[in-house]
Amino acid sequence: MALKITVIGTGYLGATHAAAMAELGFEVLGLDIVPEKIAMLTEGRVPMYEPGLEDLLRRHVAGFEGATGRLRFTTSYEEAGEFGDIHFICVNTPQKHGEYACDMSYVNAAVDSLAPHLRRPALVVGKSTVPVGSADLLAARLAELAPVGADAELAWNPEFLREGFAVQDTLHPDRIVVGVAGDRAEKLLREVYETPIAEGSPFVVTDFPTAELVKVAANSFLATKISFINAMAEVCEAAGGDVVKLAEAIGYDERIGSKFLRAGIGFGGGCLPKDIRAFMARAGELGADQALTFLREVDSINMRRRGHMVELAREAVGGSFLGKRVAVLGATFKPDSDDVRDSPALNVAGQIQLQGAQVTVFDPKGMENARALFPTLAYAATAAEAAQGAHAVLHLTEWREFRELDPAALGGVVAERRILDGRNALDPDHWREAGWTYRALGRPL
Ligand code: UGA
Repeated sequence: MALKITVIGTGYLGATHAAAMAELGFEVLGLDIVPEKIAMLTEGRVPMYEPGLEDLLRRHVAGFEGATGRLRFTTSYEEAGEFGDIHFICVNTPQKHGEYACDMSYVNAAVDSLAPHLRRPALVVGKSTVPVGSADLLAARLAELAPVGADAELAWNPEFLREGFAVQDTLHPDRIVVGVAGDRAEKLLREVYETPIAEGSPFVVTDFPTAELVKVAANSFLATKISFINAMAEVCEAAGGDVVKLAEAIGYDERIGSKFLRAGIGFGGGCLPKDIRAFMARAGELGADQALTFLREVDSINMRRRGHMVELAREAVGGSFLGKRVAVLGATFKPDSDDVRDSPALNVAGQIQLQGAQVTVFDPKGMENARALFPTLAYAATAAEAAQGAHAVLHLTEWREFRELDPAALGGVVAERRILDGRNALDPDHWREAGWTYRALGRPL
C-alpha cells in the first residue's frame, strides 16, 4: 500500500514539501495550527509569494477542478496521527528573543502534539533546522509519548531549499541527506525520495548529529562566502579596486566558484543570520566555541554592510540627510520573495529615516509585509512614484524589474540623478549614460 504522508507546518518549507510530495504521487495531509493558513491552502492559495508554488498546489489540492485530490489540509493532530505513515516536521526555528540560540518551542510542540496520536508504527522526520543534539532528545521524547512506543521512530532529513526557488529545489534537490538510527527509517525514506522526480540526486545516509550539522555547516559556508567577498569589497574601497571584477576573476577558479560572491549590503532573511548565531551558541554549549569564532566575524562583516551603505548615501547627498528625500528600491531580503525578515534593505531604509531623511520605499512583492514591520516608512505604488523628488535612489534588493528600469525616464522625476547600488546588480554605464551619478559598494567612483 502506498505510503501516506503528513507535513506539519505549512510555511515556505512545509507548503512546498507537501505539494511536492503530492506531485511525487503520495497522499498528503498538511497540518498547521493557524486556521487562516489552512483555509487559504484549502482554497488553493499560498500564504506567501513563492514562484510556481500556487500552480503546484492547485494541481493536487482536493476540490480543484482537474486536481489529483492527493493533497488536503487540517488543523487536527488527531487526524494527522491517524492518517500518516510518515510525518515530516517543517515548523520554523527562529532566533530566541535577545539571544543567539535557536527557539525550539515550535518543534517541541509539534512532536508533543503529534506523539500521543501515533497508535501504529510511524516515522517522524525532522526537516527544520535545529541545534545538533536535538534529534536524540526528540527521538527519546517521541518513544516516551507515543502509544506505540519505540515503533514511533525518528529520522532527520534537512532541507536546503532557497526562497524564490523553493519548488525547483524541492523537486530537484542537489542532494538528499538523511540521518537515521535504523534500517527501517532508511528504507522508508528511500521509498519517498527514490521516485522518478528526485532520481539522480545523491542520497547521503548518516547519523543524527551529522545530518543536523550538514544543514548548519552548509548555511555557515554560504554566509562565510558572502562575508568574504564583502570583506574584499571593504579592501577594494580602501585601495581603489573593483570588487565586481575581483569576484568575476576569482570565481573562474572552479575550486572557488562564482556563486554567492555578489558583494553588497549583505545577507538577511530567516535563515543565514539566525543559523550562524544558533550554531555559535550550540558550539559554546558543546565546548567547541573556538572552532566557530570566525562566524562572529562573518556576522559582524555582514552587519557592517548596512551601516556602510547608510554612510555612502549620506556622503552622496552632501553629508546630512536633513531635508533630503531618499527613494529605496527593494524591501525584501532577496528578490522573488515577499519575505522581509531581517531584510538588509529595510534596515538601511530605517536607519536613513532615523537620520532625518524622508524615505519612500517600493518593492514589487514585499510591500504588505514591509508595511507591517516598518509602518513609519512611506511606501509608493511604483519605483517611479518612490523616486519623485528624490535626492538619491538606493537600489537595495536586486529585483529584475529594477534592472529593467529606464534611467532616462526615471531621471525625469528625481530631484537629483544619483543612484546608489547596494547590490552591485545594475549596469553602471547604462545609468551614467543617462546622466546619473552611479555609486556602488566596493567599486571605484
Ligand atoms: C538559504 C540557503 O541558501 C538555502 O540553501 C537554505 O536551505 C535556506 O537558507 C534555509 O536555511 O532555509 P535563503 O535564505 O532563501 O536560503 O536565501 P539565499 O539565496 O541563501 O540568500 C540569503 C541572503 O544572502 C540574501 O539576503 C541575499 O541577498 C544574500 N546574498 C546571496 C548576497 O548578499 N550575496 C550573494 O552572492 C548571495
